[in-house]
Parts: sequence; C-alpha cells; structure tokens
Amino acid sequence: MKTTVIAPSNIALVKYWGRRNDELVLPYNGSISMTLDKIFTRTTVEFSRYYKGDMIVINGKVAKGDSLNRALNFIDLIRKFSGIDIPVKMVSENNFPTAAGLASSASGFAALAFACSRALGLNLNFRQLSILARRSGSGSAARSVLGGFVEWYKGKRKDGLDSYADQIVDENYWKEFRVVAAVLSKSEKKISSATGMMYSVNTSPFYRSWVESSEDDLKKIRKSIIEKDFETLGERAEHNCLKLHSVMLSTIPSLIYWESETLDIIRDVKEWRSEGLRCYFTIDAGPNVMVMCLKKDVKEVEKRLKEKESVKNIIVTKPGRGAYLSDKHLF
Ligand code: DP6
Repeated sequence: MKTTVIAPSNIALVKYWGRRNDELVLPYNGSISMTLDKIFTRTTVEFSRYYKGDMIVINGKVAKGDSLNRALNFIDLIRKFSGIDIPVKMVSENNFPTAAGLASSASGFAALAFACSRALGLNLNFRQLSILARRSGSGSAARSVLGGFVEWYKGKRKDGLDSYADQIVDENYWKEFRVVAAVLSKSEKKISSATGMMYSVNTSPFYRSWVESSEDDLKKIRKSIIEKDFETLGERAEHNCLKLHSVMLSTIPSLIYWESETLDIIRDVKEWRSEGLRCYFTIDAGPNVMVMCLKKDVKEVEKRLKEKESVKNIIVTKPGRGAYLSDKHLF
C-alpha cells in the first residue's frame, strides 16, 4: 500500500554526541530537543512486486552515492524486520530548499521509518518507531517521531530496547517558545556527525566529562521546560552547546564546524542579552546559529538578525507536532 508520512526536524537543547554501539546507534548520553513546526520532510513509499528494482528519489533527483546507500541500508533493515523482501519506490521532499543549509537527516529518516513500517503492515507504536528511526544511523531521527519537547534516553540494555524517545510535554504546552534559525552558509558539512562523533569518542580528552556532565544538563533542562523557566533553559542549552563544541575542537582531527560569522552572532546574542533582549543561542555540527527566545521578543530578534549581511535566510519556528500520516502522496 502506498504510504505517506510527514516528519519534522528538531533542534537539540542537550546534544547527542557519541555512540557506545555503532551498529545499534546507542548513545553514550541522553539528549533533549524541540520538534520544529516549520521544517519537515514528506516521504511516500510503495512496496510492490511489479517494480523491477528499488527506486529512490530525493528532492526531485534520483538518489546516488551516499544518500542512496543510506536510504537503502535502512530500507533493507526494515524489510528484514518485516520478512517482506520486495522492491520499493520512495519519493521524499523537504519543505525547504536543501540549499538552505538546514537539511537534517532527522526528519528524513523519521519519515522513512514511519512510512516503510506502515507500508509493510507493521503497526508500531511511537516507542517502537523511535527505536526503528534510531537505527537509520541518524540518531536524532529517534526524537523526530514525537512533537513538543522530547527526550531520547540513552538506555542501559545491550539490545537497545530502552533507548528511545519520549515526550516531555507536547507542542501546546509552551506555545510562546521560539527558535529563530539564522542560516549562514549553504555549504555541506565537511565531516558527517557520525564520523565526527566517532573521532571525538576516541580522541577528545574532554569526552568523558562531556558524558558525565550531560546528566545534570538533562535534569536542569527537563525541569526548566516543565516550569517554563526560559532563562534557566537558555543558559543551560547555551552551556551544553559550548561544551559540545569544546569537545569538537579538541578532537583529532579537530572538528571546526563554525565559520567566523558564527562566532560573530554568538557575540551579538550575548551583547543583545546584556542590553535586555532575552535570547540564547545553540549550534549543531554546522555554522548556522539557532536563537531561542519567547514570542514577545521574536520580532526584535528577527530584525537584528536580518540586519546582518552574513545571514542568508531566517526561519522562525515554534514547538511542532510529531510525525503523522498524510494522504497527499508524492507519486
Ligand atoms: C550535533 O547523526 O543524529 O546535531 O547529522 O542529521 O545524521 P545527522 O544527525 P545525527 O547527529 C546529530 C548531532 C547533533 C546533536 C543532536 O542533534 O543531538
């Protein structure tokens, strides 16, 4: 049966970085993210004996190389799991240009996991879907199946069945929360997250403290979300982000994902804050800066970011819903 799923992207407030089990994609530390309402992937899949072979189309182009392999490896895993080995056609589109620099595999793989599992007749609940999405290799996809604010537990078990994402609060709980994405660069990242985090685990002298200190970050951020304590959340998320980048910088080879413009905006956000504008930043494995603020300050944050020549694109997002089925198929 043809199945279409829309899955959102997410931004981590406590970041995931490092795997204790590569094959099962089991993290060393838990993470917390906000699901983004404006940034998502729509994916349609159909399994049929009448297809001569697998066909994968991503953003209007027949997939090749690395993106083809990643998609097919994951589809093979789901085929094996369901015991149904027939060809697939998959068409996937992001609702924003990939060139915007925000393309995340989290939304893509969450959509693929959900759509394939349904199309193959597997009726998985959200916990099982999260575990499946995790196996795609994009660990953050585990968080994208759910809406609102989401925690991905690191788990303890060897089989990974206790490493899944859970909702802390849904998308209607803290409606005033905003994340303003300031897109700086259109370039692809040079070292993928999967490779980068493997280097960090093996070489950064700070990796152990990263894992140990993340426990307290999780506790504080979880609490600040429930209490809608914006300052505590912002301060901790910023600290967690800077800790992650310290691990990245001290990795061999060094992982420098920032551009000089990234640092420029970090300084701006801190200065705006000292002037009384309530905003904080967070940054993933790339140069773009995500600025957190509340609804009443979003226009001012947007205005100040727009004045910067380095900012190519601005997307204002709020807590969004998790992945869902749609009847608007792509083929
Ligand atoms: C820095 O392997 O989950 O964004 O690079 O999209 O495949 P992709 O992501 P993944 O690594 C995410 C690393 C991170 C932090 C985070 O999202 O928790």
